[in-house]
Amino acid sequence: MFRETYRIWTLAGLIFFNISSYAQSDNAITMALPDPLTNNSGKKINDSKDWMRNRRTELLTLFEDNVYGQLPKDFDSIRFRQKTDIKMAMSGKAILKEIGIDVYRNKLLVTISVTLFIPSNAQKPSPVFLLINHRGRDVTDPTRIVKSDFWPAEEVIAKGYAIAAFNVSDVANDNKDSCNLGVLRLYPEQLKMPNGMKAIGAWAWGAMRVMDYFEKDKDINASKVALVGHSRGGKAALWTGAQDKRFALTISSCSGEGGAALSRHLVGETIKDLNTNFPYWFCDNYKQFNSNINALPVDHHELIALIAPRAVYVASASDDQWADPVGEFFSLKYAEPVFKLFGLNPLPVTEQPGINSPVKSASMGYHMREGVHNLMLYDWEMYMDFAASTSVFK
Ligand code: GCU
Repeated sequence: MFRETYRIWTLAGLIFFNISSYAQSDNAITMALPDPLTNNSGKKINDSKDWMRNRRTELLTLFEDNVYGQLPKDFDSIRFRQKTDIKMAMSGKAILKEIGIDVYRNKLLVTISVTLFIPSNAQKPSPVFLLINHRGRDVTDPTRIVKSDFWPAEEVIAKGYAIAAFNVSDVANDNKDSCNLGVLRLYPEQLKMPNGMKAIGAWAWGAMRVMDYFEKDKDINASKVALVGHSRGGKAALWTGAQDKRFALTISSCSGEGGAALSRHLVGETIKDLNTNFPYWFCDNYKQFNSNINALPVDHHELIALIAPRAVYVASASDDQWADPVGEFFSLKYAEPVFKLFGLNPLPVTEQPGINSPVKSASMGYHMREGVHNLMLYDWEMYMDFAASTSVFK
């Protein structure tokens, strides 16, 4: 069934690509996709300046108003406190810094804790991989008593990269009843708006504050930050990368619906599933599309396109049909016309690559790992290979 759907979709994809316009149809596979290069008033976008100045802003507003909610940029002050600085971490291979980021607005405070390992022997300032961690804090254990492939710090340090993480619960608990008790206390007006920030937006806000810190740490090369998120964290990573041009590379692992996957590719989770099971992740307006996907004025190839000309990597897992690997891959493919405006080459394939067969261009990468919905060492190895080769990160 998977194979079948994927062939039909591939074919549909090629047709759409060649004629570069999208036919209307009720069929689940050939549903029309909005064109990133046609602006809200129907004008075609032909160059990167027009994209950056006009269309990008339009699309960001559409995603804010209909999917993720606004992302407030204002706050009163930000302070970075270094809580730990251990020079001989990982048997001398790394420096460990634990940082508290205090952000104040209207006399209210939110604190984000960051764990950061920097390679001792590699050239400084170091490029860094930052994980949005929505799992337990032990996954990013600074003592390294607990080790996890979800955040394989030793392996990343061995390749000469720094690695960092923050936990989503510092900014918004991943819980319907308590997600408003973090950063949303600082922005209470957001809670009243149908396009107000919710949990995914709050996690993206948190990633941006960690970037604020990187810009001040002389050991870190803030122009080479790769943001990694898995699943719900991957949705947040893409939303961050789409908005914040400071992130050189955005990496989505199994982010599925509301992340990399095309909503109009009807496999796996739907918008309605998301809004029913996780009503606190996306803005209230998103619920309007539960039973009316065609009315959504965007689709997620346009989210990926917002990252251009910076680099983006999408990863799927072969047994993860809930996250729709086909829809994730074609989201990248349909973002290509925007990358082309910047003179960037498309992926060297037109069909979804097989299992464990990564593909990449200078600015885009994709693989489908064998196995289940997870973030594993294999995925990180592919991300690091891509980072080493992409012109915007290496
Ligand atoms: C659920 C949810 C997905 C999400 C995933 C995760 O399966 O439906 O949208 O990506 O959890 O975060 O692991």
